[in-house]
Amino acid sequence: MTFRSECGIVLDALETFFEQAQARKGPVIRQTPMAELAGQMDLERLISEGGLGGDGLKRFLAPYLEAATRLHHPGYMAHQVSVPHPMGAVAALIGAFTNNPMAIYEMGPSATTVEYTVLNWMLAKVGWRPAPLPGSEAGEEAHGGGVLTHGGSLANLTALAAARSHVAPDSWETGTPDNLVVVCPAGCHYSVARAAGILGLGRRAVREAPTDADGRIDPGRLASFLNGLRQDGSEIMAVVANACSTAVGLYDPLRDVAAVCRDLGIWLHVDGAHGASALVSERDRGLVDGIELADSLVWDAHKMLRTPALCAAVLVRDHRTLDGAFREDASYLFHDKDQPGFDFIHRTVECTKAALGLKVFFVLACEGEAAMAAYVERQSDLAKAAAAFLRARPGFEVAAEPQSNIVCFRVDGDDALQLDLRRRLTENGNSYVSSTEFRGRRWLRLTLMNPATDMSDVETLAGEVEGMLAM
Ligand SMILES: Cc1ncc(COP(=O)(O)O)c(C=O)c1O
Repeated sequence: MTFRSECGIVLDALETFFEQAQARKGPVIRQTPMAELAGQMDLERLISEGGLGGDGLKRFLAPYLEAATRLHHPGYMAHQVSVPHPMGAVAALIGAFTNNPMAIYEMGPSATTVEYTVLNWMLAKVGWRPAPLPGSEAGEEAHGGGVLTHGGSLANLTALAAARSHVAPDSWETGTPDNLVVVCPAGCHYSVARAAGILGLGRRAVREAPTDADGRIDPGRLASFLNGLRQDGSEIMAVVANACSTAVGLYDPLRDVAAVCRDLGIWLHVDGAHGASALVSERDRGLVDGIELADSLVWDAHKMLRTPALCAAVLVRDHRTLDGAFREDASYLFHDKDQPGFDFIHRTVECTKAALGLKVFFVLACEGEAAMAAYVERQSDLAKAAAAFLRARPGFEVAAEPQSNIVCFRVDGDDALQLDLRRRLTENGNSYVSSTEFRGRRWLRLTLMNPATDMSDVETLAGEVEGMLAM
């Protein structure tokens, strides 16, 4: 048993898994009961006796991959998780094998350098000044900064920790003042409320920003809302804007929201976990117009940058705000030493931190920027075409004209019917869709992540739904 021979077994199995999924053979998703699956994979015996290599590995992989959800199947239209570019998976292998947890430079100089460079690429896309390389002539000008984290939820927490330390610099030592509030649209991802809980504001400190009927922040009413909060004694830690919203993929009007925040001296955080990837497209950049006026931004590479999970960027306009977010003593890590590089550890919740930058770097470096832009544009064009197709069908309704690659639709009937249709679609196995609430009703939700998904998959889905309704 060698690393090469085991990798060979895995590669053969993955290739078959990929080819079958992409050829639409077999269901997208198979919900095998867990107890059955544990038996098929022979987990307990393997843990106790070992012997996973060679034929044992083949025996394990067969049920494992059989039950795995097939993101490469073009009928995968459910969640915002990327269909990973193969080069991202290659990078993950390198990261896992070298195992350079690079929160401190000495534990992974190459991984740190890659992450630093990827973050600078992202900063430049936003319109923020990239960070000079350590040791270079830095100059006087303030510059941006960032860190990659294990997911957008952790990234939102990190950015909001930076906001807290900016607004209440003593909070790290003395705790969170009880009048701090966060303002965001009701449709914000739940990780924002969770961050408020973790940061000690409490979920009750999350105040709903005024929005239009589609849940986008209404900048015309924002200033008076914020002033009202202040008059009532609240201190606003941050306004959080969506770029784009999780449920329906709509973008808040960032320039106008930022103008209000600037005017009132309020930290603006943009949750661009899903939609900040519009930044790579000249054509679609207008969706995030004004993003450069924010103070912080979250941008997940494992959503629309085709990178395997997890890989999420926290970016700030002024690096000092993120550098001040966490203040720790750890004598075994933080001490005077030769420092030819950069320690990310001051910017992150995590201590041991994987080489996340390598994954997104491999994808970018393989495809190049033009191809990444073409991917983002293709998926949002597909969403518009899907919306038009679905809207035209009798009894179908589309929630909103898509701005990204997310389309929500429903058929005539109550909420229970939409969930029942989802269940039956999942059982059929040709399409895997998600579902969400929006405007007080339940919708079926397509998140078109897969570059192999085309209109024929949307047609199959609609045909199946119509068939179910006719039964
Ligand atoms: C807008 C938004 N923010 C944050 C998140 C959380 O990201 P993650 O799933 O990487 O924790 C999501 C996930 O769907 C999201 O859509």
